[in-house]
Amino acid sequence: MFNFNFYTPTRIVFGKETEYRIGKLVKNVNCKKVLLHYGSGSVIRSGLLGRIKESLDASGVTYVELGGVVPNPRLSLVREGIEFCRKEGVDFLLAVGGGSVIDSAKAIGYGLANDGDVWDFYEHTRQASACLPIGVVLTIAASGSEMSNSSVITNDETLEKRGYNNDISRPVFAVMNPESTMTLPPYQTACGCTDILMHTMERYFTNGGNMEITDAIAEGLMRTVITNAKILVDDPDNYDARAEVMWSGSLSHNGLTGCGNDGGDFASHLLEHEIGGMFDVAHGAGLAAIWGSWARYVIDNCTPRFAKFAVNVMGVEPGKDDMETGLKGIAAMEDFYRAISMPTNLKELGIDPTEEQLETMAKNARIATGGPKGSAKKLEAEDMLKIYQM
Ligand code: NZQ
Ligand code: ZN
Repeated sequence: MFNFNFYTPTRIVFGKETEYRIGKLVKNVNCKKVLLHYGSGSVIRSGLLGRIKESLDASGVTYVELGGVVPNPRLSLVREGIEFCRKEGVDFLLAVGGGSVIDSAKAIGYGLANDGDVWDFYEHTRQASACLPIGVVLTIAASGSEMSNSSVITNDETLEKRGYNNDISRPVFAVMNPESTMTLPPYQTACGCTDILMHTMERYFTNGGNMEITDAIAEGLMRTVITNAKILVDDPDNYDARAEVMWSGSLSHNGLTGCGNDGGDFASHLLEHEIGGMFDVAHGAGLAAIWGSWARYVIDNCTPRFAKFAVNVMGVEPGKDDMETGLKGIAAMEDFYRAISMPTNLKELGIDPTEEQLETMAKNARIATGGPKGSAKKLEAEDMLKIYQM
């Protein structure tokens, strides 16, 4: 077990009709003007934005709006948001949406609280010293950004998708009504469940410092998401299943399932971010497409963890040795992806990169991480290329 520093300052307000409490929550922050930040319209169509405005109006909170965030959120809108908020005197950001909207809000928050170009932080050439406070109304269980210290932005000029992690961006509060996720298309629900699983799997497949209690929480979380993701395929309005998945999404990426380990693997995320930047695919689907190839490539270096996962999470019968058991677990995970209509390779993801594009992604992934990546196995650019080729 390694030392750890577990920091989760976000207040969670969870359950039915919680969006009506937003006015009071924002009022408590003591701000002058709020930016309501949202995506391409789902929150308008569902009526959620209207209910939020009612609650803000009732509490006498002043706000302005900026919609238009797209999945794989763009740097250009972040820059527009920074300008707009400066002009308007915004001092609190309310993100109404999923990971893309929350991450866009975090980037705007960095831009407003620091001088210079906000992209510097995502290129890791300097650190942000502050971030505007952020509140969240979550509409999709997936990224965990509502409690995470992370923000992932795509530079629309260079097609680079880059993440920046800093505790100062962790939201002040997140309002989570599972009913708000019932309007999601089945594909986005499945992408979300995949991403949630991956945030814990990234922390689980490590070669160092694993704790029994952390493993038990992680395995319970993964089993819960798998069970409820399957329920949601046939019964998307099942409140309890929505709630299980939604709370799992936050716990999966707030650091809890990595306590005591070596920081996790996160190579699958690195590999996916390059795919997302170049081909604009949904993040969860990109992860499902890459995971099986990653797992088979690294299993030699992390065999006992794969065997443990196979038995404790996927419920497979142990084989003659850890390797056989581990491989059965990988196959079972891919069966699960198919059961929720997720891809298990790049072709099923709907992309057909050229060899040159694969090389570019591997090279850029290695540059983005500034060194070899992974804990299950340390990956160099040539390893990343082989995984893409698989
Ligand atoms: O834009 P609208 O119209 O709202 O539609 C969105 C979008 O098209 C739609 N949607 C969201 N809630 C809905 C809904 N449609 C109907 N009903 C609802 N209730 O779903 C689509 C996807 O939304 P998005 O915010 O992109 O999804 P997600 O939460 O999966 O976020 C993905 C982004 O988060 C990043 C990913 O890389 C990707 O850019 N990540 C952020 C992380 C973090 N900050 O901690 C960690 C993750 O690993 C991830 O990298
Ligand atoms: Zn993710």
